[in-house]
Amino acid sequence: MKLNEILGTEFPIIQGGMANIATGEFAAACSNAGALGMIATGGWDADRLRREIRRARELTGKPFGVNLMLMNPCAADIAQVILDEGTVMNIAVRPDCRRRGVAGRLLQVFLDFAQGNRLAFLTLEVRASNYAAIALYGSRGFRGVGRRKNYYEHPREDAVIMTLDLTGEQEKT
Ligand SMILES: CC(C)(COP(=O)(O)OP(=O)(O)OC[C@H]1O[C@@H](n2cnc3c(N)ncnc32)[C@H](O)[C@@H]1OP(=O)(O)O)[C@@H](O)C(=O)NCCC(=O)NCCS
Repeated sequence: MKLNEILGTEFPIIQGGMANIATGEFAAACSNAGALGMIATGGWDADRLRREIRRARELTGKPFGVNLMLMNPCAADIAQVILDEGTVMNIAVRPDCRRRGVAGRLLQVFLDFAQGNRLAFLTLEVRASNYAAIALYGSRGFRGVGRRKNYYEHPREDAVIMTLDLTGEQEKT
């Protein structure tokens, strides 16, 4: 199923972010069960979220997400932690809205944020056959730096690892 492929899940289920319930441990358990676990951030500050992300990482190798509640007074710091600690998992645009610059604009928000907050680089994986996505990331300066063999399933396929160097070092080499 397409949603499973996009999210890296076994079932098309996204666990909702529930403040003070959806901890790192809770989200990891949901991801291990085949859904997409989500760590809730309502009521927490950035340090607490950082600890919960690390806890989830210890407990699962599967994808999980973070629900950013924009009303949280610490939302900006929390967004910083998500970018520091996370990887861009996926960008998807409804088929009938593609090639109108939507994904490019979404990606640009992340790039502006990353640059504004002096992140050194961004990294992501993409299916080797996903020409549109590789072209999208390539158009924003991401470069292929390697492959993960048989990274994806249904169908089995390599991932291309792409990174964007925000320090300017890549151009010098
Ligand atoms: C990849 C995807 C997110 C692109 O979304 P989009 O809104 O159509 O992309 P944009 O219109 O912002 O395109 C930005 C640039 O990406 C490149 N691009 C996007 N789609 C492309 C395609 N089908 N063929 C070639 N280049 C493409 C182009 O360089 C484009 O710039 P241009 O239109 O000025 O030429 C969309 O095709 C999608 O949702 N695919 C399914 C989900 C997916 O595979 N996500 C990525 C997984 S890592």
